[in-house]
Amino acid sequence: MAYLFGLIGYPIKHSLSPWIHEQFMETTKINGSYEIFEISLNSNFTEAINDLRKKNINGFNVTVPYKEKIIQELDELDDQASRIGAVNTVLNIGGKLVGYNTDGLGYVKSLEKAYPKIKESIPNILILGAGGAARGIYNGLKISGYLNIDIANRTLEKAEEIKQTNLIGKTEVITLDTAEQVLNQYDIIIQTTSVGMKPNVDAQIINLTNLKSNVIISDIVYQPIMTQFLKSGIIQGANIHTGHTMLLYQAELAFNIWTEKQVNVENMDLKLQEILEG
Ligand code: ATR
Repeated sequence: MAYLFGLIGYPIKHSLSPWIHEQFMETTKINGSYEIFEISLNSNFTEAINDLRKKNINGFNVTVPYKEKIIQELDELDDQASRIGAVNTVLNIGGKLVGYNTDGLGYVKSLEKAYPKIKESIPNILILGAGGAARGIYNGLKISGYLNIDIANRTLEKAEEIKQTNLIGKTEVITLDTAEQVLNQYDIIIQTTSVGMKPNVDAQIINLTNLKSNVIISDIVYQPIMTQFLKSGIIQGANIHTGHTMLLYQAELAFNIWTEKQVNVENMDLKLQEILEG
């Protein structure tokens, strides 16, 4: 029987997820389809999810603005999704919907693939931003054994809320101004806000002067792939990590939850870059 997967969110017509999962199905020889189920903001959300159950969908991804709202429709949540308070992947086990969050662990995997030795040096990490993406990445890093992670955000309360989810290790909350001044304390700096995203490509969340040598500058914005933040890191001699790879690895983990198949995403990186760069 053919598998049915999909994506819910709004607006999602231009999502890259169908392309990514179609590649996965092709390489694992799984017969199925990955469809876009756009749910407009004024539609009945519960009904929309019940429609997916009726279709016997095997699993679906959830994106903005429904990553939190979906939780009320689910029968179970895994630990990571529950701690993050957001779900990006749902598995349907005979009508029982189970929620997962692969964003954070997908991010960690993409970073470790690019820089395999980072964990050995017990890096000091700074996360810029405290939205949903930051929350996922913070938890993904913590459960992967990265203990020293500070958070800088425009609204300090939101960073404090993420700190509350800390299980182990140290975390300090600082302002963006302080972050600029103490940048040389960090080995990895992760930009998780939408600042710098098209069409505001010249925007940069903080100035990157005063960087430690050998620092890794990471940006989860992937439109454009080479953000102003990354460009300015390169000028300072930093190593960089681009955001589009997170997209591949969170998808890989979701596909594994649905099918128990392992896929190798490394050879898809360049193709995805080409698509994003039009
Ligand atoms: P997501 O779920 O994609 O992470 P979000 O929850 O809306 O999106 O979070 C956006 C993050 O970007 C927040 O940390 C936000 O800062 P605030 O918490 O102060 O709102 C940050 N952000 C967005 N635009 C910003 C800007 N112009 N300057 C500084 N931070 C910004």
